Amino acid sequence: EESYQVETATTFVRACSLIKNRSYDVAVLDLQLHAPQEPDNRDGVFLLRWLMRKQVPVVIVTAVPARRLVDEILSSYGHVYEIVDKSDSEAIAGLAACVEKARQSSFPSVADDPARFREVDERFERLIAGEIERSRTGWEANHLRELASHDQASQATVTWLHISDLHLSDDKTLRSSTELDSLLVDIERQIGQHKLVPDWAAVTGDIAFSGQEKQYARAAGFFDRLLDRTGLTKERLLVVPGNHDVSRSLVSTGARILGDSLHDGKTISEILSDDGDRRFLLKRFEGYARFVGDYFEGHSNLDSDRYFYVRKFELADRQIAVLGLNSAWVSASDRDEANRLLVGEEQVRAALGLAAEADIRIALLHHPFRELRECEQQTVERLLCQECQFVLHGHGHRTDLTLHRSPDASAMVIAGGASHAGLEYSNTYNLVQFNPGSGQGHIVLRRWSGEGVGFWAEDNLTYRNVKNGIYQFTL
Ligand SMILES: [Fe+2]
Ligand SMILES: [Fe+2]
Repeated sequence: EESYQVETATTFVRACSLIKNRSYDVAVLDLQLHAPQEPDNRDGVFLLRWLMRKQVPVVIVTAVPARRLVDEILSSYGHVYEIVDKSDSEAIAGLAACVEKARQSSFPSVADDPARFREVDERFERLIAGEIERSRTGWEANHLRELASHDQASQATVTWLHISDLHLSDDKTLRSSTELDSLLVDIERQIGQHKLVPDWAAVTGDIAFSGQEKQYARAAGFFDRLLDRTGLTKERLLVVPGNHDVSRSLVSTGARILGDSLHDGKTISEILSDDGDRRFLLKRFEGYARFVGDYFEGHSNLDSDRYFYVRKFELADRQIAVLGLNSAWVSASDRDEANRLLVGEEQVRAALGLAAEADIRIALLHHPFRELRECEQQTVERLLCQECQFVLHGHGHRTDLTLHRSPDASAMVIAGGASHAGLEYSNTYNLVQFNPGSGQGHIVLRRWSGEGVGFWAEDNLTYRNVKNGIYQFTL
């Protein structure tokens, strides 16, 4: 007997993130997701639109008695296989067979035919406008209107989650597990509340505490739960290593002396271009490399050939390139701090070269520019801020938002703060939504308060002018 892998969503945003980020053979959809106490709520129509965009055949199971809506859906949208009335027990008994038939059916592909796609999408637009007009309560009209604007925004924007500095150690204290759990709960809640369904997520380094295998086993568990809460897949979780992802016992005296001796751009480029030298220096990432190789199942690797990466995807009709840079390859001890680190112009230029065709470039690296050695600090900052719209980093354990502007550059540099660093720091994370068409965006800033048992809240304490934890910006 054939078995199915089933994922269930009971809220609108959860369903949206799953449809947006994963692929399905068939969907069973209720026309009413949110607030079943509101009998006329038909927010499933929005999900139907998303399913059409992703070309998923749909079986609708509904108790919504609006015959008119049901007829309109059946006659207008080729990918709806059947509408099953929830109150009809015979029809419900035949649901499994119906789902299987829908799965095997082939529907006309709308996405491959732009004119047809636009036509169906416009029909949806009218259907939704009609539903808003026919709403019988103010609540329902507002709800549908809100979903319509969310729908429009998510078509035109790029949205991501940025967490950093998890420092997962092997001693699994209850406090640390509770803090991680509460971080995940808060992320899911914020996605729902702001209807910010992430297209991808960034983790800007210091995933482990000291680059050890056991610590990465915890990271794998945490990432599994993060993907589950966000609806994302492993391909859309992008990580870079930090100084805590270095296994210091693997840094030989020779590797340390070589790293310490690099103070001119030309030699740094020569070292980074040499296969043997890279292998020698990158040995310190053994634990991290094994983790990303195993966990990301080939989507992410770190070895002597691939010490940085460029990942591309299409979003909001644009090509987005995420540059995953390594700023910890000379990191060896606590003396790393205060301009002692290196990215290398060679690495930055190589990554930018691979991302040259992209419309939006977003760089991820662990260290802020101020931690880089004097010989390259300006060059690396200038290059990245000129060529990228966003630079995301961690390490400082403080949220920091800087709009980098010059006649040649307009980039938002976002320091993520530490998402899990104990009581010494205010744990933070953020969600970003950016509209490439208008150049406008906003950042939802979250901060952990250590008061009482501790709780996540809007971050209104980092900046005087950030109200309700949301910073609006224009690039
Ligand atoms: Fe850190
Ligand atoms: Fe760090």
